Amino acid sequence: MKIKFLIIAFLISFLLSAQPQLPSLMPYPKSVIAQDGKYRLNASFNASCVADAKDDILYSSVNRIFQGINRKTSLYFKQQYIKPGTDSKTTLKIKVAKKSEMYRGVDESYSLLVNADGILLEASNSIGAIRGLETLQQLLQKDNEGFYIPFVQINDEPRYSWRGLMIDVARHFIPIDVIKRNIDAMTTVKMNVLHLHLTDDEGFRIESKLFPKLTEKGSNGKYFTQDQIRDIVGYARLRGIMVVPEFDLPGHTRSWFAGYPEFASAPGPYEPGPRFSAPVNSNEPINIAAIMSAPTPTLDPTKEEVYAFMDKFFGEMATLFPAAYMHIGADENNGVAWKNNPAIVNFMKQKGIKDVHELQAYFVKRMYGIVKKHKKTMIGWEELNSPDLPKDVAVQKWIAEGGFMKSNGKPLDIAAKGNPVIISTGFYTDHFLPAYIHYQNQNLPATDHPNIWGGEAAQWTEIADAGNIELRIWPRTGAIAERLWSPANLNNIENMYDRLFSLSKQLDEQGLQHISNYERGLRRLSSGNEYYYLRNLTDVLAPVRVMKNLFGRLGNPTQLSNNSSPLVEGGDLIFPDSEVKRTFRKNVAKYLDKKDSETEVLIKKQLELWIANHNALMNAGMMHSGYANLEAHSKNLQKLSEAGLKALEKINAGQTFTTEEMTGIQQILKEARVPHGNAELDVVLEIESLIKQTLLPEPKMYPFL
Ligand code: ACM
Repeated sequence: MKIKFLIIAFLISFLLSAQPQLPSLMPYPKSVIAQDGKYRLNASFNASCVADAKDDILYSSVNRIFQGINRKTSLYFKQQYIKPGTDSKTTLKIKVAKKSEMYRGVDESYSLLVNADGILLEASNSIGAIRGLETLQQLLQKDNEGFYIPFVQINDEPRYSWRGLMIDVARHFIPIDVIKRNIDAMTTVKMNVLHLHLTDDEGFRIESKLFPKLTEKGSNGKYFTQDQIRDIVGYARLRGIMVVPEFDLPGHTRSWFAGYPEFASAPGPYEPGPRFSAPVNSNEPINIAAIMSAPTPTLDPTKEEVYAFMDKFFGEMATLFPAAYMHIGADENNGVAWKNNPAIVNFMKQKGIKDVHELQAYFVKRMYGIVKKHKKTMIGWEELNSPDLPKDVAVQKWIAEGGFMKSNGKPLDIAAKGNPVIISTGFYTDHFLPAYIHYQNQNLPATDHPNIWGGEAAQWTEIADAGNIELRIWPRTGAIAERLWSPANLNNIENMYDRLFSLSKQLDEQGLQHISNYERGLRRLSSGNEYYYLRNLTDVLAPVRVMKNLFGRLGNPTQLSNNSSPLVEGGDLIFPDSEVKRTFRKNVAKYLDKKDSETEVLIKKQLELWIANHNALMNAGMMHSGYANLEAHSKNLQKLSEAGLKALEKINAGQTFTTEEMTGIQQILKEARVPHGNAELDVVLEIESLIKQTLLPEPKMYPFL
């Protein structure tokens, strides 16, 4: 009897956990049992910890969350901060068995119980406790009587041990304040690895005291000093995040050669800058085959001086980054620079190295020895994979099967062979994809394997900079963080979006600048005028998806000088996912299903607003070229909305459009799909759904180019 009851209770809690009921939680916990009742907060709210008195990670985090709640509720708590050893007759009790640093595989589980007695958070160590504190902060709610935490019992732990965000600070330099705000946001969504891509062709972004020429010649003055790196690492540590540095070798190395041309496979001199020199203002399509087969700046792997240098350099860097990992890049080396150098070809002959892939494997093996000597585990992008790769090297996947780049193995195959795998395929936030695509990432194996460590969102910065990177990464990375933390069976798209937009507001309140990035961009485009009408338009635009945006600019160097050109196209300041679009889609879906007048009114109001908006926008007198490129979208939205209104009339009259009417409408739809200003109108499918009287599915993926 008792067993039966337990099984039923387990099944109920399992089912409940798969259907989120608390809309403010992201990532959603593994098990949530909501109960009736509210724990109300007042000025007497206080906290205590039963924990190691020296646990600075725990105490700083408790104080951070405590003050976050204090700020949000303006209750002016009588207790102002939490000291070690405070007695435990408090409203928030925190019990932590032992102090711990963040390391991969540390127990991040916690339990949280909220009832009439107060709040109890328990964890086996500091890292689990701080994950639980973030959940507690997200539970805070408000009703007419004030602030409260709903009664609830939560048992939570992550699905994956590696939940990272990679930021490319090399293409466009991303300064320390922006990095810290990203760390704050990562903490909120329980991510635990910040991977900094510190060097690339365009810039060398970290100070070396042993080799100062690296930044003197390779950074245009924009780099992290070692003090700043220590600051970032310490800041991340207190938030349960490890910082993993990447020094991308042997390709992507132009900036190294500005100071050390003798290490290159082709003679210098070198300046930091993009690896590709695309034709100026070419109207011809980008020739990918030509780009892929062009020689690019690449380290000479045959020179012993290179390894002696790397040994010293990696030794210096190993002392700056306490995390157990170092990333050597190893991506996108096509070997052409090696084939073009007779001395390198001769070296290969002498050593019996039969092709450039084997030479790359030789280089990787030499670097493996160096990284290991400095007591770190090596990670590389998947091109470092080879049959002889030592089993303790982690492979970071980024290439999709069947795409135009050759994949270096399926995640489960690499894992089965014995190498750890980190998955970034399908998690590139610089591809401007809506969050639902990342959320359903099929590159994450359906079956878990101990060697699949987890994944990383990746934000490259060819067309992102300090002024827009927060809106590029957030809030969408919340959906990726949830995919990596929460159970795989949590997969309702609309529910995810509700929570994602709630998270977005939380992040804004906490100081992240993603919304400010957007609004500042709108003010700039409005040339000092009111931006209300512009926003009505940009709220339903999205950047051109995947690589079209970047490749479109490769032929236009004025829009792609990675250090200096301003990123001021419409497509540079808008979100890939807009709440207005999601709400509109939800309403269209509901209306087509129920034909209810309440939803019809909402849709009609929105269409009428878009119709009226165009003329208002035209009269607003804006001058900026980034705005001018968007004007065609405004007109198209107006025409499309007029067709949408007609569609509502048809539905009400029980009619459909005639073939003749459809000819005109097809033309409107076609024009509405054309990109302008590197942006696309993002509600075409929804209005088309009204026209066709059936909800059209969203794309599972967008074309790469
Ligand atoms: C990469 O995107 N080249 C790792």
